Amino acid sequence: MKIFTTKESLTKYLEDLRNNGKSIGFVPTMGALHQGHLSLLAQSQQQTDLSVCSIFVNPTQFNDPRDLEKYPRPIESDIKKLEQAGCDVLFNPEVSEMYAGNEQWHLDLGELEHLLEGKFRPGHYQGVTQVVFKLFNIVKPDMAFFGQKDYQQFMVIQKMVDLLHLPVKLVMCPILRETDGLAMSSRNIHLSPDDRQHALILSKTLNWLKQNFNADEIASLSKHCEDMIKAEADIQLEYFEIANGETLHNADQKSKQIVALVAAKVGKTRLIDNMIIRS
Ligand code: PAJ
Repeated sequence: MKIFTTKESLTKYLEDLRNNGKSIGFVPTMGALHQGHLSLLAQSQQQTDLSVCSIFVNPTQFNDPRDLEKYPRPIESDIKKLEQAGCDVLFNPEVSEMYAGNEQWHLDLGELEHLLEGKFRPGHYQGVTQVVFKLFNIVKPDMAFFGQKDYQQFMVIQKMVDLLHLPVKLVMCPILRETDGLAMSSRNIHLSPDDRQHALILSKTLNWLKQNFNADEIASLSKHCEDMIKAEADIQLEYFEIANGETLHNADQKSKQIVALVAAKVGKTRLIDNMIIRS
C-alpha cells in the first residue's frame, strides 16, 4: 500500500493512473478502523480498479472539543488492517495540510442540516461537507463509498454532490454489526462492559420495530420504541424517529421509503443507529 501525507504527491500519483484509464474508488474515514470501514473498502475493490482510503480526524465536524480530543487514533494498527485488506492507497494528512487557517465554508443544505443529527450537533454537517469536498477535489474519485450507519450524512453528501455537480457516484453500504446486534463504531471502545450491554437496546428496538411495523399506527409504534429505550438504565435518548427515507421528516403510511433512526448517550458515549424499515 502506498501512503501519502500531502495533497500534491497524492494528486500526482493518481493523475498518472487516471490517465491510464484506471477507475478510482474512495473510502473516506476518520480511522480507528473496524470491519464496517473495511466492508466499504471491499465494495470499492469490487467496483473500481484502484481503492483509496483516507484517515483524517476532521476538526471542523466536531462540535464538542473533548470528543475531538478523545477520538481514537490507532494509526499503526489501522495501516496494518488496510494492508491486510489489500488497500492500494492511504491518504493520511495532518490538519495543516487540509486547512490553511481560518476558512469560511457554508453550503445551503436546507432542512437536512437542522433535522435529527443536525439538531444535536450544530455545524456538524458544514464540517463534514467542507472536508469531503476537499477530499473529493484531491482524490477525484469515480465512486465514493459511505455507510448507511450515517444515513443522514449520506443524504447530506449526496445533496452536496447534486448542488455542486460533482462528478462522483456515491454508494451506500449496509451497516455491519457485532454478533449481538450492536452497530460497529469507532466509538464503541469507549463503552464500559455495562454500557456495552445497555447499548444493545438500540438495535433491539430497531429490530422490534421492523418486525412489528405493520401491527400498529406509526405514532404509537414510535412511542413504544421511545419507551423501550428510556426504560434501559444509563441511557439518555436524544431522538427516535420513524422517518421518510427521502426527506427525514416524520414518515406516514404512504411514505415509499421508511427509515428509523436513533441517537442516544450510553453512559458518556454518544451512539447512533438506524434501520431501513421500507425500501
Ligand atoms: P467515520 O465515522 O470514520 O466513518 C467512515 C465511514 O464508515 C462512513 O461512511 C460511515 O458511515 C462508515 N461506517 C461506520 N460504521 C459503519 C458500520 N458499522 N457499517 C458500515 N459502515 C460504517 O463518517 C465519517 O468517518 C466522517 O464523517 C467522514 C465522512 C470521513 C468525514 O470526515
